[in-house]
Amino acid sequence: KRVLIVFGGQSSEHEVSRISVTSILKNIDSDKFDVSMMGITKDGKWLPYSGPIDKIPSGEWEQISLKDRTRSITDKISLIDNIVSRVDHAGELDTASMNDEKGKKIDVVFPVLHGCNGEDGTIQGFFELAGIPYVGCGVLGSAVGMDKIYAKIIFEKAGIPQADYLYFTRKEIAANIDSVADRIEEKFRYPIFVKPSNAGSSVGVTKAHDKNELKEALIYAAKYDRKVLIEEFINGREVECAVLGNDDPIASTVGEIIPGNEFYDYKAKYIDNSSKIKIPADLPEETIEEIRDYAVKAFKALDCAGLSRVDFFVHKETGRVYINEINTMPGFTSISMYPMLWEASGIPYSELIERLIELAIE
Ligand code: DAL
Ligand code: MG
Repeated sequence: KRVLIVFGGQSSEHEVSRISVTSILKNIDSDKFDVSMMGITKDGKWLPYSGPIDKIPSGEWEQISLKDRTRSITDKISLIDNIVSRVDHAGELDTASMNDEKGKKIDVVFPVLHGCNGEDGTIQGFFELAGIPYVGCGVLGSAVGMDKIYAKIIFEKAGIPQADYLYFTRKEIAANIDSVADRIEEKFRYPIFVKPSNAGSSVGVTKAHDKNELKEALIYAAKYDRKVLIEEFINGREVECAVLGNDDPIASTVGEIIPGNEFYDYKAKYIDNSSKIKIPADLPEETIEEIRDYAVKAFKALDCAGLSRVDFFVHKETGRVYINEINTMPGFTSISMYPMLWEASGIPYSELIERLIELAIE
């Protein structure tokens, strides 16, 4: 099978994708799959890449790809023949050849993209239009999974316990931030979480401790998205469960994140390395089962496919389980929870990649 691995992306998680894809490329079985690579720059250029894998994490791949570009351009085959013909500005998509340089057809795409324009249904819609199978959730699951507010509406409907919430638009915040803050204070006690509805890796998220912080947090979150989610703080341990499959998904064991910072933010996740992962989480058997059960429920409720990592809190005092969020393209770095949970559940990394590709074309 010919697999096109897409990485980077126009997203605040572009750098994370570069690290995720490096692990995937190192672990994919090259006897079974004929791999080509396509990087998407932060400003949205699609560049075919055939250089060394170890130039991806630093971003050097871009220059290497651009140097090779003369050749790519002369050999180029339009991105997706059947899409380009429908797109006015097809010329702009020219380097983004979905067929590789020799023009061989790609059987499946693996979009190793996190966050906006990659994990949110947009690129999934593009592959749908092109009629090319792709790894992971479809348009609906990706879009709802990325939108924290809509995911909460669906979780509520599915009867999965979660933190209480409110939401406001950027416009409401800009028009009268004091009244928005008052309404939030009527409902919640500090600390209060403020998050952009659409954004990954905790970008734009604040834990506000007083009214001033709350107002700043609202303005900050509104920079990243049109909708802002306000959530009750759950004093919980952070645990995560991996789900794999299509219509009959299975759940992995449960892992816990022991955070280095006050919460598991972008810095703790990718910069400091201060957080530790514990698999399996040190929890009672029935709590583990409850989490696995909710993880599959959430996956199905959002009509997910292929994979997702579902994140939960276990309340430090009551032991109750709350769903936090679902990630339809979870981190795949060598220290990421998703592949580690499957390793611990008996599916080694390269087998996991193989299964994901099979799920895309089954
Ligand atoms: N959004 C990052 C990649 C994660 O959840 O793992
Ligand atoms: Mg996320």
